[in-house]
Amino acid sequence: MARREAVAALALLGLAAACAAGIADEQEPERPPHERIDLPSIAACGGCHQEVYAEWSQSLHARAWTNANVRAATNDFAKESCRPCHSPRSVFETGFDRRPDYRDFNQADGVHCLSCHGLADGVAAARTIEGAPCRPRYEPRLLEADHCYPCHEPTHQAFAEYEESDAFALGIRCVDCHMQPTTHRRGRSHGPNGGLNPDFVKRGLDWSAELADGEVRLTLRNRTGHKFPGEIPSRSLLIEVAFDDAPPRTELLRKPRRGEDRADNRLTPDEVRVLAFPVPPDASRARVRLYFRPLPLLPVEESFLLGEWSGEL
Ligand code: HEC
Ligand code: HEC
Ligand code: HEC
Ligand code: HEC
Ligand code: HEC
Repeated sequence: MARREAVAALALLGLAAACAAGIADEQEPERPPHERIDLPSIAACGGCHQEVYAEWSQSLHARAWTNANVRAATNDFAKESCRPCHSPRSVFETGFDRRPDYRDFNQADGVHCLSCHGLADGVAAARTIEGAPCRPRYEPRLLEADHCYPCHEPTHQAFAEYEESDAFALGIRCVDCHMQPTTHRRGRSHGPNGGLNPDFVKRGLDWSAELADGEVRLTLRNRTGHKFPGEIPSRSLLIEVAFDDAPPRTELLRKPRRGEDRADNRLTPDEVRVLAFPVPPDASRARVRLYFRPLPLLPVEESFLLGEWSGEL
């Protein structure tokens, strides 16, 4: 049932998209898609690329200007220095060694299709396609980590972490994890492939638990190309270890907030960490739960479970 509703919703979305694109084409037949950064992504590109549009709309790229965390942290973007990457013009326009320019119109679209794809004479693509209305042109840098750099490095130094990772040494790029090839069309998933997607987050952590020498030993291994939890500072990993019905002991892995007197205890790239919890005398059962907590503005119950283990003592 849920699936049927989802399909129906997608069909409706597609219809709306086709209409919006139709209106855009009718109003300005002479203006090619790559110049339509002043129109919402749905009207600029979404009508013809409905699936990509549907994926992108679920991602934080689409909500970079509107999500509650960002609104709160930037005082509704009264802070001017916060605007450029959350409503960017194309990174190809400014270059890959600096932050993008602020798009001072159509902000609600956040990281617009053309923020990533916009070229002066068409759209950046993995191949050149002659005759397509949006003028796709082969642009090798689109798939490189460099492409993510202008927005992702200046604030949170994800690249310094990435460059120390096994993934980097093996030539695994950001898109190889965050935009994996789709199976049913020739393309890559546009999202949501980040901290709000439990299935995606689970891929980033290997873990196991065992009882040995009077301890519960929890082994964690970071499988991402950066710290775990990654870049977005509000994410955290909550570990709960409980014996019988006693309140659980907890351990919280997260980045300190600015000015906070606390170490950054997240897992470094590829780190294997063993945490030991001594078993209290007379305990008969141990239980381990790992939660990923996505947002500080959400109640803890909205965290999601990454894994669970229990053992008889
Ligand atoms: C009027 C319809 C239309 C609009 C609007 C449109 N496109 Fe396209 N796009 C196409 C067609 C048709 C192709 C070629 C598909 C093919 O041959 O497989 C294409 C191809 C592409 C490709 C290359 C696909 C590949 O298989 O490598 C990219 C990237 C792309 N479009 C991005 C965009 C972006 C970004 C926008 C908005 C600025 C946009 N398109 C707007 C119709 C459109
Ligand atoms: C964060 C940057 C980014 C944003 C935002 C983005 N794209 Fe892409 N897009 C890429 C990358 C990287 C690829 C991979 C190139 C390839 O393999 O074809 C890609 C591929 C594509 C392709 C070709 C393959 C496929 O997946 O079908 C199309 C079409 C496309 N994008 C359209 C869009 C549209 C439409 C939007 C907005 C709704 C959009 N993109 C937003 C980075 C982005
Ligand atoms: C033009 C600026 C820009 C570019 C280029 C860009 N990003 Fe982002 N990205 C952002 C912003 C801004 C956010 C945060 C949105 C928010 O949470 O408010 C973000 C969020 C994300 C997230 C979290 C998404 C989610 O749905 O949870 C991932 C993952 C990500 N980016 C990966 C990438 C990768 C990989 C690339 C390169 C292919 C890339 N980005 C290119 C600006 C950009
Ligand atoms: C080997 C796979 C892998 C590589 C390479 C990788 N990441 Fe990640 N990344 C992940 C996984 C899995 C997560 C989710 C778990 C977490 O938060 O660490 C993540 C989390 C993130 C987040 C936080 C998203 C959110 O919504 O919380 C951002 C932003 C991000 N990565 C950007 C990048 C950028 C930029 C690069 C390239 C410099 C990159 N990643 C390379 C796997 C990878
Ligand atoms: C250089 C580009 C850039 C600038 C400038 C920038 N941001 Fe961001 N912001 C990002 C990217 C990329 C992400 C997603 C990955 C991450 O958190 O590093 C993000 C994510 C965020 C998030 C997390 C959103 C969520 O979904 O939880 C908040 C909050 C935020 N930014 C606030 C700010 C504030 C406040 C400022 C100004 C002081 C600012 N940003 C300036 C690029 C930027």
